[in-house]
Amino acid sequence: MNSDDNNYSDIIDEIFDRAIYGPKIFKNKLVLFHDYIPKRLLFREEQISKLARHLTTLIKHQRTSNLFIYGKPGTGKTAVTRYVINRLLEKIKGTDFKFIFSYVNCRLAGTEYRVIKYMADSIGLKLPFTGLSTEEAFNRLKNHLVNLKKPFLVVLDEVDALIIRYGDNLLYSLTRLNYDESDIIAMIIGISNDLRFKEMLDPRVLSSLSEEEIIFKPYTATELEQILWDRIQLAFFDNTVDQGAVKLAAAISGSENGDARKALDLIRVAGEIVEAQGGNKITTDHIKMAYNSIDRERTLEVIRTLPLHSKLIIGALYLMTIGGQNNRIKSSVLYQKYSLLTGEIGESPLSSRRFYSLLTELSLLGIVNRRIDNYGRRGGRVTTVKFDVPLTLIKKSLVEDPIIGDLLINKFD
Ligand SMILES: Nc1ncnc2c1ncn2[C@@H]1O[C@H](COP(=O)(O)OP(=O)(O)OP(=O)(O)O)[C@@H](O)[C@H]1O
Ligand SMILES: [Mg+2]
Repeated sequence: MNSDDNNYSDIIDEIFDRAIYGPKIFKNKLVLFHDYIPKRLLFREEQISKLARHLTTLIKHQRTSNLFIYGKPGTGKTAVTRYVINRLLEKIKGTDFKFIFSYVNCRLAGTEYRVIKYMADSIGLKLPFTGLSTEEAFNRLKNHLVNLKKPFLVVLDEVDALIIRYGDNLLYSLTRLNYDESDIIAMIIGISNDLRFKEMLDPRVLSSLSEEEIIFKPYTATELEQILWDRIQLAFFDNTVDQGAVKLAAAISGSENGDARKALDLIRVAGEIVEAQGGNKITTDHIKMAYNSIDRERTLEVIRTLPLHSKLIIGALYLMTIGGQNNRIKSSVLYQKYSLLTGEIGESPLSSRRFYSLLTELSLLGIVNRRIDNYGRRGGRVTTVKFDVPLTLIKKSLVEDPIIGDLLINKFD
């Protein structure tokens, strides 16, 4: 064994020793993951009882109305819906009350066909992965429902993702089930955190889907603090989380949309940081570090998913910035550099109008900072830009990109 091996084994030993013998703070980390449904949901009495009352019409085989649930991200829509339906399913076990239930996350399902297939799967109907038209698949689903003769409850979570891509055909067919098929009692619960899709709905579909509505308001910082403490008891050993840390996590998430998911993420990531350092208590400093690390991940993800030409603009700005032109860069000069880069990968540059609209988008996303200065009638208006996020982050995201990474690799310092 040479000395290098020794060095490595020391490092490995230290990491494993710390994991095995070091202080532990997580009692059960799983309860901090996004898909965990808590046994207790705070501050949602009104929504829970409204949903529960609404569902009783279904199990009593009464004609029912559909329901639309709306609220900003992380306000408990999915958790509350799944929680109340699970309770109902438990409650009716062994009784004469019956219904069939399907939960589909439309964003994860991706296509109309997959949404239908998910519904079919959960009610015991086999559909092939491909080969059927959506109409044919839907007809088979409908016939199956007629044969089952039980009320049908379908939750379409993140339903906006379906409508924005495919329009409202499927939703229309689902809302028609109660009218066209007298043998079927169906209830649709649509959930969304984005109301833009409503404009894309046919007025009949819209009025049918939102006959009843439940609104989820953002949580206040005080509410988030209690939600956090409730979960901390399950997730962490006693005395491993500082009160100030919880206050700070709640204050940050309270000021940013009142998002409980964000608050829980902050605590979880802070806990991971403490554990990696071999520490035994989460403090405000760890929450700040967690905030930066989550922010960093989010920025990387935003850049990663941008279209090619936006990445080329970022690449051009990066090269100009590290090339010593530290100050703000004139957008007209940036356009030239962007056009050169674009040519190097055999693409044609976008028109300057499109270029400016992509630049506006990059500034809305908080990646670049754009300033317009007015130099009077002679000088005209001059737009200048600079990055609004650290250069190391920009570099990391560019290097990872298969096209831009190859293009820029030789140009980096
Ligand atoms: N009232 C609450 N009490 C306890 N935990 C909650 C509460 N509300 C939300 N949470 C937790 O916060 C996280 C986010 O909640 P949920 O997934 O229900 O948000 P959502 O409203 O569906 O968000 P999105 O629109 O992004 O889908 C989950 O981990 C959930 O367990
Ligand atoms: Mg949700």
